[in-house]
Amino acid sequence: MQNISLSDLHKQIKMHLECLRISGIEWLENNNNCTSQTSVPIVNDHLPLVSMAGTQNVVVASPAPVIPSLHSLEKKTLLLQQLKDEVASCVKCPQLAQTRKNTVFGIGKIEPDICFVGEAPGITEDEKGIPFVGEDGLLLDKILKACGLSRDEVYFLNIISCKPPDKRLPLPTEVTNCRGFLEKQLALVKPKVICCLGSCAAENLLDTKIPTNKLRGKFYDWKGIQVLCTYHPLYLIRNPEKKKEVWEDMKFLISHLGRMLPTP
Ligand code: URA
Repeated sequence: MQNISLSDLHKQIKMHLECLRISGIEWLENNNNCTSQTSVPIVNDHLPLVSMAGTQNVVVASPAPVIPSLHSLEKKTLLLQQLKDEVASCVKCPQLAQTRKNTVFGIGKIEPDICFVGEAPGITEDEKGIPFVGEDGLLLDKILKACGLSRDEVYFLNIISCKPPDKRLPLPTEVTNCRGFLEKQLALVKPKVICCLGSCAAENLLDTKIPTNKLRGKFYDWKGIQVLCTYHPLYLIRNPEKKKEVWEDMKFLISHLGRMLPTP
């Protein structure tokens, strides 16, 4: 038997836990006293062991994280930044790559209640590299405020990350080329609900030709995430009489999330 000092043992366990953490296992089951099972996080600076002495402290890897840890949010931030860099250098759509000023990656809170999915960046978004900062974005901000939400509580992204020229709709090939970025982003952001703004978002995410007016009012599923569809803010600017319907959709969404509307 090899003699090992307590401090070397500590170092070895720490290294092993760090390897587990890097490979995605961030919580361990602590079967410490056999009467209760708790999960403990693997963190950098200390071990999830109650005591190093004796053999009672059996630590078993748990397959699924119970609570999202700070580490998983940090890791997601890092992975989203890597994805954003990948999008910034993407030239899969030659016309878009030539005409864009900036790629427009999603922005907002990771693991939010709501992720709004739009169509494609417009002129202002292309200039600033940020989604929904033009005229329709201002209207969206007002809708959020009426719901008691701020921009940094939600996430925004688009079906495609580059502005199509001449205000045209994204082409099917462009949507396909960008699909991987959209799906990876949604998987990392993991919102409770996706709110599709307008027909381009709904058609492409839900793979349907059903128009928005028929999709409204109920939840659909996209890879385990609930999806609600409403009109695009640009459509509301052109058809202000539809604002009432969007407000109904938002009230439905807010109450579905168990949130309260602000008192007027
Ligand atoms: N319209 C969209 O669909 N997305 C934006 O980011 C801006 C305008």
